[in-house]
Amino acid sequence: MQMRKSAPILLVTAALLLAAVPPTVHPGDAWMDNRGQQIEAHGGGIIKLGNTWYWFGEDRTQGLDPLKRYVACYSSTDLVHWTFRNQVMKQADPGDLGARFVLERPKVFYNAKTKKFVMYMHIDDSRYALARVGVATSDTVDGDYHYVRSFRPLGQESRDIGQFIDDDGTAYLIFEDRPAHGFHIAKLTADYMDVEKDMSLIRQSLEGGAVVHYKGLYYALGSHLTGWNANPNLYATAKSLEGPWSEFKDIAPPAVNTYGSQSTMLLKVVGSKVTTVIFMGDIWKPRTQWDSRYLWMPVEIGDGNLHLPEPKPFTLDVKTGRTVVLPDAPAAPAK
Ligand code: GAL
Repeated sequence: MQMRKSAPILLVTAALLLAAVPPTVHPGDAWMDNRGQQIEAHGGGIIKLGNTWYWFGEDRTQGLDPLKRYVACYSSTDLVHWTFRNQVMKQADPGDLGARFVLERPKVFYNAKTKKFVMYMHIDDSRYALARVGVATSDTVDGDYHYVRSFRPLGQESRDIGQFIDDDGTAYLIFEDRPAHGFHIAKLTADYMDVEKDMSLIRQSLEGGAVVHYKGLYYALGSHLTGWNANPNLYATAKSLEGPWSEFKDIAPPAVNTYGSQSTMLLKVVGSKVTTVIFMGDIWKPRTQWDSRYLWMPVEIGDGNLHLPEPKPFTLDVKTGRTVVLPDAPAAPAK
């Protein structure tokens, strides 16, 4: 019968069509993992090993043990489809922090010399008064990370942290320093277990710090200090991490408050045709943290300018590095 013969052909055609659609990021939508669960990687960071990216972040899944803090790890080869790997931290109060302690913005670095994965995180008490970083290590990227210690980097207060790995592989920790009214970009020690020296202390009160090295310029970006509420994020540039840094400018019209998000990282995707920089932001929902969303959007960048366009779904081809912002869906016809 005709129907029976054509059904498999239709299925194959549909599958081929689906395979041809490049993976698409939907900024602000619920982003599902391979299990069909919302990705829990808030305040996160991403590292690339071989052809695979690993996304780490705060796991704020509902119903977890309220006395512990959790970090989840996901992997992807296209930056769109993410496989849950492991809840790599299930941390109880490591000592004197109290039941309502804070473990936020985890970032993982791979140290090729020691072959260890080293996680940095913001460690604090419930009042955010300790202002320390924590360090944990694992032998594998998605193994269980073991808490080592917490400290104030270079003896300074540190709240929001960010990570930056330069093109030459050097690893830097970005940390906000309230008393200094600024943020540091600081080099890690050879084994990554400590912070060695400041490259810059940029005297602008910004957190959610992120840095990218693009075509010979460093772009440093961050948000104002407004807690979970979004604000207009700013950026500055410099030819060297040691500065001098330019004046700070808005990444988007100030009125849109970074489209309701807060920076956590600038992700550089080096493709065969182009290099794309993706702004990774968190859309926080403080009362329903598990449902906080991600705003990812390729930025317009170059010649000292960085602009975050209005978020819209975009396709991402990690092989070529190309992104295409999809046209708006046609409006419903007027009645
Ligand atoms: C934000 C910070 C978040 C979290 C929050 C708590 O400013 O970026 O990571 O610490 O404050 O209010």
